This record gives sequence, structure tokens and C-alpha cells, in this order.
Amino acid sequence: MTDIIKQLNWRYATKAFDPNKKISEKDFDTLLEALRLSPSSMGLQPWRFVVVRDPALREQLKPCINNKGHVTDSSHLIALCTIKDLDEAYLLSCLDYLMKERGQKPENMVAIKERYIGLLNQKTEAERKAWITAQVYIALGVLLTTCAVMEIDACPVEGYDPKMADEILGLDKYGIESKVLCPVGYRLPENDFLANLKKVRYPKGQVIIEL
Ligand SMILES: Cc1cc2nc3c(=O)[nH]c(=O)nc-3n(C[C@H](O)[C@H](O)[C@H](O)COP(=O)(O)O)c2cc1C
Repeated sequence: MTDIIKQLNWRYATKAFDPNKKISEKDFDTLLEALRLSPSSMGLQPWRFVVVRDPALREQLKPCINNKGHVTDSSHLIALCTIKDLDEAYLLSCLDYLMKERGQKPENMVAIKERYIGLLNQKTEAERKAWITAQVYIALGVLLTTCAVMEIDACPVEGYDPKMADEILGLDKYGIESKVLCPVGYRLPENDFLANLKKVRYPKGQVIIEL
């Protein structure tokens, strides 16, 4: 079995990617499959993962992001996005899909539909948005861990202008908005001051509370 702790120590938020090293399509497909398999609250999957393959689009994104090298030097660039809002119709269509895939009878879904709609309607619009955004960060965690296991480098990026980036990528027509970008590829340690710095985390006694 992979030594997960060794791999989590190996990974770091890579600042410089080798522009000459590309992730194989097979490995990249594994990353996409890991994203697809990410868990989400109520199984609603309120996300889309946009793979920006077009080099011209990636070049255009440079002004929206603090670390410009990430955009064009990394092997692939993924924008992790949420659907714009999660309403009753979306929730019901998810539950219908689940029911069909599992071969369940509609009458067995009535109670769960009512419960989920009740939970959804308790939330304000702002609470719903925060909730669906939280789901995308779970997918980000799954992606980063999968990358670590596969010795693929990644850097989660919140330091960008999402409005500008979404406009360049034309995300509006999909009814989605980006929350975090994630360039993936292979590190170029000689160009990265962070590559050989110690990984710093608070000690176990500080972050784990055992009751
Ligand atoms: C949600 C999230 C957003 C981040 N945004 C950025 C960013 O915009 N630019 C950047 O260089 N690093 C970014 N990072 C990287 C963090 O600074 C880094 O993960 C943290 O310092 C821990 O270091 P390590 O990942 O190298 O272990 C982000 C990390 C996370 C989890």
C-alpha cells in the first residue's frame, strides 16, 4: 500500500512547474476520475471541473492570477467550479438520477425528497452558496491527495480574479462559476524557492483535540 503520510509530506504547493514535462493522458484521466468520485453533501455534486487545454486561453488567463507561471508552465490547468445556485429543481433532478441508477421505486423516495427539500429551504441564498462552495473544496482535497499519491505536483490557487477568469473561460453559458484553480504537472525545483523548505504544520498536540 502507498505510504500516504510519506506522499503527503512529499507534496507541496508547487510554485514553478517544468514546462517540458507533461502528465500522460492516462494519469490525467485518473485525476479527473478522482474528482468525479469526490463525495458531496447529500450526493448533490454541485460542481463542474473545467480543463483548460487551449494554450491561447491559458495565455489570456495570465493577467488574472498572481503567479503567472502556473497558468502556462503547468502540464494541465483545472478550474474547480460550482453551479451558480442550487434550487429545488436541481435537487429533485439529482435525486431522480440517483433513484434511476439504483433502480429504486419513486414511492420509496418521497420521504427523502421531502427531507432534503426541507433542509434546502432552511438555507438563505448566501448559506446555499457557501454550502455548495464547501463541496468544491472537498473535491480539491481529493485532487491534491490523488496527485500526492501519484507524485504529480499541484498548486491550489485562490489568488486570482474569478470574475475576469470566468469571463475569459466563458463559464456563464454553463451556469457555473470558478472557486479555485489548480495547475497540475511536475515541479522545477531549481526555479522554486519553496521546493526545499521544510513543511511546516502545527504539532499534533495543538491541532488534534481528544475528548
Ligand atoms: C484553498 C487553497 C488556496 C490556495 N491559494 C494559493 C494561491 O493563490 N497561491 C499560492 O501560491 N498558493 C496557494 N495555496 C497554497 C498554500 O499556501 C499552501 O498549501 C500552504 O502554505 C501549505 O503548504 P504546502 O501545501 O506546500 O504544504 C492555497 C492552498 C489552498 C489549500
